This record gives sequence, C-alpha cells and structure tokens, in this order.
Amino acid sequence: MRASPAALLCVLATLLPNTQACLQASQHKLTARDIQAQVCTRQAALAPKKTVIQNVRVFNGLGFTDPQSVVFANGRITADAINVETVIDGTGQFLIPGLIDAHVHVTDLKGLGEITSYGVTTVLNMACADYGACAALKNNNQTDVASVLSAGYAAIGYASGNGALQPPPDRLVYPDTNLPQIVAWAFGNGSDYYKLIAKPASLTQQQQNTIVSTAHNIFHRQTMTHAADIVSYNQAVTSLSDGIQHIPDDGLLSSATITAMKKNKQFATPTMSIFKFGYSNPAVLAFLGRTQSPNQTYANVEENVRILHKAGIPILAGTDAVGFIAPGIDLPFGITLHEELQLLNGVGLTPLEALRAGTVEVATWHQLFDRGDITIGKRADLVLLNSNPLLNISNTQDIARVWVGGVEVQNVTRLT
Ligand SMILES: *[C@@H]1O[C@H](CO)[C@@H](O)[C@H](O)[C@H]1NC(C)=O
Ligand SMILES: *[C@@H]1O[C@H](CO)[C@@H](O)[C@H](O)[C@H]1NC(C)=O
Ligand SMILES: *[C@@H]1O[C@H](CO)[C@@H](O)[C@H](O)[C@H]1NC(C)=O
Ligand SMILES: *[C@@H]1O[C@H](CO)[C@@H](O)[C@H](O)[C@H]1NC(C)=O
Ligand SMILES: *[C@@H]1O[C@H](CO)[C@@H](O)[C@H](O)[C@H]1NC(C)=O
Repeated sequence: MRASPAALLCVLATLLPNTQACLQASQHKLTARDIQAQVCTRQAALAPKKTVIQNVRVFNGLGFTDPQSVVFANGRITADAINVETVIDGTGQFLIPGLIDAHVHVTDLKGLGEITSYGVTTVLNMACADYGACAALKNNNQTDVASVLSAGYAAIGYASGNGALQPPPDRLVYPDTNLPQIVAWAFGNGSDYYKLIAKPASLTQQQQNTIVSTAHNIFHRQTMTHAADIVSYNQAVTSLSDGIQHIPDDGLLSSATITAMKKNKQFATPTMSIFKFGYSNPAVLAFLGRTQSPNQTYANVEENVRILHKAGIPILAGTDAVGFIAPGIDLPFGITLHEELQLLNGVGLTPLEALRAGTVEVATWHQLFDRGDITIGKRADLVLLNSNPLLNISNTQDIARVWVGGVEVQNVTRLT
C-alpha cells in the first residue's frame, strides 16, 4: 500500500553515500537518511481492521467499568459497530489507554519499535541533536510504532554544554545569544515544545525567563526545563516553565517552591528511573556529569516526589530512557516506563494515580487532547492486559495485545 514511494525512497537512501546500516544511536549522531534506511528493513505493519473488543473491563480514568465492548476503526475509537472485521474476546481482561513516556531520548526506529512492544504508544523526546533526523523519526510513515513528539535543540549555557544529546557547539547559549531567535528557530524546525537546561553554569535566571516568556507569548507553546538540583529547580519554577523535568537529589524542595508551582500550575516529571539507575551504578552518574556530593542521595529523590505528590502537584511518568549508550550505560526503552510507574507507586501514588501518571495526566498536561483515555473519538492507542493494574501496578506488564492508532503491534513483549 505504502510500498511504492517508500520502496523508492529506500533505494535512493541505500544508493546515496554515507548511509550506514546497523547503527547504534550512541556511536554517531543519526541523520534523516539513517532513519530512512531503517524504514527499509522494517517488517510491514498489519493492516488496520475495524475491530471490537467484547466483554472487556475498560479503564475510565477512575477505575474499571463492568465488561463492555470497545470498537475502533480508522485509527479512532468509535460508537459505530456496523461491519466489524475483527472480533476479540476480552473476557477477564483489562483495557487501558496506550502508555505515554513523558521523557525519553529515542533517536531511531529500532528504539521506537522496542518502546512500542511494551505498550508505550506515545513518547515525548526531550532533546533533538539533529533537526533532519528528528523530523524523519517523527514522520517515519510506520503505522505500528509509537507517536513521537519532540523538543528541538535544548537551550544550554556554553559553559555547561556537552554530550551526544546536546546541540552543535555553535548553538549553545552565550551571553549575547539572541534568545527569541533560537526559540523561533526551534519551532521553525518542527519542535513541539521548547527544552531548557537549568544547571550550574548553564542559563541565567534572566535567560530562562526570556526563553519561557517568548515560547509562551509569541509561539503559544510549552516549555520543559531540566532541573536536577535545588538551585536549578527554583530557577525553573521562577521562570514559569510548564513542566519541570527530573527532581533534585541534593536537598529537599522548600514549601515556598511547592506553593509557587501550585500557583503557577506547573507539573513535574521526576524521571525516578534514571536516578534509580544512576544510584545503582556510579559509572552512570559520572556519564550524566553528576559528581556526587554528600548531599546528593536517592532518598532525596524519593522524598521530593513524595512531597510534591502530597501537595497535589501533577506528577507525570517519564523515564529518561536512552537505550544502549555504552556497556553499563543502558537504560532500556519500554520496560523502564513500567518500572517508573512502580517507583511512583513506591513513593505514595496509588496504583490508580500511577496509571493516570502514565496515561491521562501526561495527555492533559502536555495538551495531547486526542489521546490518554478510552472514549469515542480518541486515538485507538490501546493496551489489553491479562490482570488488573489497580490491584498491583506491576500488572501493567501483563500485556496481551497492543494497538497503535488501531494497528495491532505484532511484536508485543510478554513479561509475565
Ligand atoms: C521485538 O521486541 C524485542 C523487545 O523489545 C526486541 O528485542 C526485538 O528486536 C523485536 N523484534 C522485532 C522483529 O522487532
Ligand atoms: C515518509 O513519506 C514521505 C512522503 O512519501 C517522505 O517524504 C518521507 O521521507 C518518508 N519518511 C521516511 C523516514 O522515510
Ligand atoms: C532551523 O534552525 C536553524 C539553526 O539551527 C536556522 O538557521 C533555521 O533558520 C531554522 N529554520 C526555521 C524555518 O526556523
Ligand atoms: C549540604 O547541605 C547542607 C544543609 O542544607 C548545606 O549547609 C551544605 O552547604 C550542603 N553541602 C553541599 C556540598 O552542597
Ligand atoms: C505486586 O506484584 C509484584 C510482582 O509479582 C510483587 O513483588 C509485589 O509484592 C506486589 N505488590 C503488592 C502490593 O501486592
């Protein structure tokens, strides 16, 4: 169906020089052509069929309904049950919305396929190192992989910029950088939201304020700020950035900070997974550029999420998964989102709140109004579970089947 244009592109891509097969995202920055080359080798997706899942208990945002039918066609959930092509018996099973990872770094189709195989049907990429590659990944034409939303080049101060996920050196932020222009360039290059990096020696408070107000007032878009220490977190809150990414591990958030977040309607994506991983492996902390001081502890991570949640700050599930970077530095895609829900449950979110943190809360706070719950007209991003995640959040891993926009995913990872 999509064979002819795609096949042509594949031929072109493989004839062109510099095409590299079997890429590791870590080894070099991927280009649009690399993504196109991966498209060529992917197995074709199943054709979408008008489908009804019968006798299934459906997550309605508050709990599971009594057994009912859910119909979907043309990528969406519908009330029209005429001429159904596929009937699935969901007796004893539980239907939840496709999971959303609110903070990842997926750079290629292989990673996107992996994440989808765990029932994660939308990812929010929190940086972009090459606009062409990010556009190719977003517009990959594969109907059976998670949707991708992406930040552009992150704004990072020249004195603290480094790493594969960062922008080119000439796109770092200097004291004389024209900030409204870099924000305009990011949105002009297809960014869905603007990412800032607050950390020691990065952006000043004034620079953060200018970037955030430009994104809000000129482009009517959201900003996400990396802030993994107390000083940076306070800057991010003061700047009025929408979503604060990570969580301080070097002390406890003050009640003034939390009150301000509440007043500003800000949300938190703590990415407990990356901290858990980092604290289990000093090489990872070093890789992340964290030189551990006595005040940095995983207990601070847990306590900060606990107090934000208690105060009613929206908590979203995001992992910071990067896939394989180097031996020992491998935070895998997909499974980590399930683990994040368990970590959130461990610091006081109920299984219901944790499940919402990975579905409807992400959709709501990131303004993805076409997904996140199972209602008529929403995308048919669905995960069929064999057991009830509200009894034990680890049951999100008990996956039977997955659909992305109504297309069934063939390679579902069965964890139980
Ligand atoms: C299926 O998913 C697993 C787990 O993510 C992955 O290792 C494997 O490569 C995938 N296979 C295909 C054909 O996509
Ligand atoms: C997807 O299809 C469009 C239109 O045919 C094409 O321009 C684009 O390059 C394709 N994307 C990839 C990653 O092959
Ligand atoms: C995309 O970004 C580059 C800088 O990285 C900039 O030169 C270009 O003008 C941007 N494109 C648009 C359409 O904004
Ligand atoms: C550790 O925390 C204490 C108490 O908040 C503070 O006085 C001290 O400066 C901190 N040390 C470092 C290295 O941040
Ligand atoms: C949830 O299930 C996991 C895996 O079976 C188990 O280790 C854990 O104790 C269970 N938690 C509760 C609260 O029952």
